[in-house]
Amino acid sequence: MSKVILITSGKGGVGKSSLCCLLGYALSTLGERVCLVELDHGLRGLDVMLGVTNRAVYDLSDILAGRCSLDQGLVTSLWSSSLSLICAPNSRAFSFVSGEMKRLIACLRERFDTVILDCPAGLGEILPQMAQFSDLGLVVVTPDLICARAARSAADLLAGAGIRQMRLVINRLDEKRFKKSSSFQDLDEVIDFVAVQLIGVIPEDIELGRCMENALPPKFQDGARVAIENIAKRCQGQYIPLWMA
Ligand SMILES: Nc1ncnc2c1ncn2[C@@H]1O[C@H](COP(=O)(O)OP(=O)(O)OP(=O)(O)O)[C@@H](O)[C@H]1O
Ligand SMILES: [Mg+2]
Repeated sequence: MSKVILITSGKGGVGKSSLCCLLGYALSTLGERVCLVELDHGLRGLDVMLGVTNRAVYDLSDILAGRCSLDQGLVTSLWSSSLSLICAPNSRAFSFVSGEMKRLIACLRERFDTVILDCPAGLGEILPQMAQFSDLGLVVVTPDLICARAARSAADLLAGAGIRQMRLVINRLDEKRFKKSSSFQDLDEVIDFVAVQLIGVIPEDIELGRCMENALPPKFQDGARVAIENIAKRCQGQYIPLWMA
């Protein structure tokens, strides 16, 4: 059965789009057909991360307005033939009709095993609308008070919109920096504060940033890659103990 995963955070720049690409890739290596849908209109970036800017002719607004077919609007990533992308519109003025989006997601559910929605930062109306179509909300947080507070607001909003399931991803953990400067004693405090069950902790990883910046396939060693592969397996319902990252 297909699954729709929504990625949000409240606060901007915490790693939602990176997680979207890397989780999508990890699921595709596990044999799934995956489609990423970028909802950050006016601020698109997934085409750059996946290295498909030159091939991204159409975007989400073209598909919804019928200016292109779904096939024309889907861009296959260079990383994996099972990983596709629908780009966000370039225009900030875009606003979609909920019914059109619902129909598109129903079509995508028929063609893909997992659809991942990369939501914009903030708590705009797009979030509760998308929550209604999603099976799982991944709330991304960096382990600091400001991000955790924003993540809690995002989680409250998703819960209010009736999302079926939510999980917390702690990203960019640098143990030394966390111990030195965080207002939290440990990660349990972060989890308790956001009040969402943990699905994985991704370390700060300079290689991850390099891959995203240069559209390189995420073949980097250990660290963040393993953490994201484990998150992918947990999204599939596999039991991977949390102490394994
Ligand atoms: N685990 C990590 N280790 C190192 N760098 C990371 C990690 N996760 C994300 N980054 C870097 O953080 C920056 C922001 O990431 P990204 O664009 O994915 O965030 P975002 O939440 O989608 O931002 P926005 O809210 O603007 O959409 C990027 O430069 C990315 O490479
Ligand atoms: Mg983003």
